[in-house]
Amino acid sequence: MEQYGNFAYIYDELMDDVDYEKWVNHIENLFIENGVKVKNILELACGTGNLTIPLARKNYDIAGIDISEEMLDVALNKSENMGIPLVLLQQDMVKLDFDIYDLDCILCACDGFNYVTSLEELKGIFSKSYELLKNGGILLFDISSYYKISKILGNNFMGEARENIAYMWSNYYDDKTQLIDMDLDFFVKVQADDEEEDNLFERYHETHQQRAHKINEIESILNEVGFKNINCYGDFSILKPDEKSERIFFTAIKKKGN
Ligand SMILES: C[S@@+](CC[C@H](N)C(=O)[O-])C[C@H]1O[C@@H](n2cnc3c(N)ncnc32)[C@H](O)[C@@H]1O
Repeated sequence: MEQYGNFAYIYDELMDDVDYEKWVNHIENLFIENGVKVKNILELACGTGNLTIPLARKNYDIAGIDISEEMLDVALNKSENMGIPLVLLQQDMVKLDFDIYDLDCILCACDGFNYVTSLEELKGIFSKSYELLKNGGILLFDISSYYKISKILGNNFMGEARENIAYMWSNYYDDKTQLIDMDLDFFVKVQADDEEEDNLFERYHETHQQRAHKINEIESILNEVGFKNINCYGDFSILKPDEKSERIFFTAIKKKGN
């Protein structure tokens, strides 16, 4: 199942309505809310670096990990063009292989953990994160809520036609498995020198699979792994989520001893 192959090269354009500055501010608000001081961050599923780059610009020491070579390629190009060097590693976070310990923060934003489709694998990532964090360090992540995946994305069809990109996006959700398959066909205008070829579009196909995690499932595995002060917040607020929150932020602190 191809995920974030060619799609990587249109990802930023399709995400142009996302306010990443607000996202970064919210992450920093959650640091304050949880009373943690953060200098170094390991970001899982960093994608094209839309949070990695602004966080690096704010002087955090940040390293990004992603499974997609193409997403990292875009991130690397952007960081080089902006003169902001980044440490980027291509890895599957389910088999996270990282041996720098005592980290202040492990971050995973914008659905990264929805792509982890079994609770056992998610628990494995939480366990490894616990091991890598310093005592008092924070695991901070956000996911699309169960409500958003099951009811809003559900079995719906979406599409958009822009000047240079068009896409058709069909969803298939199964509440027994809590899995959604998102079939994505996208059409990207070919850069042509010749006027006759000016209206040629190349077609690509990807299927993305995500799991609609429930809040209690996540809280329970964070707890089993040993995290303390486990909190969740609805959308971009510091309030508890309600039944219609579409994005849920979680924070959990590694606290050993009393
Ligand atoms: C919706 S994008 C979010 C990217 C970025 N965090 C952002 O805020 O724009 C999800 C990312 O998760 C990555 N991803 C999915 N499964 C992964 C895995 N097992 N290990 C590492 N990265 C993964 C994808 O390659 C993609 O870059």
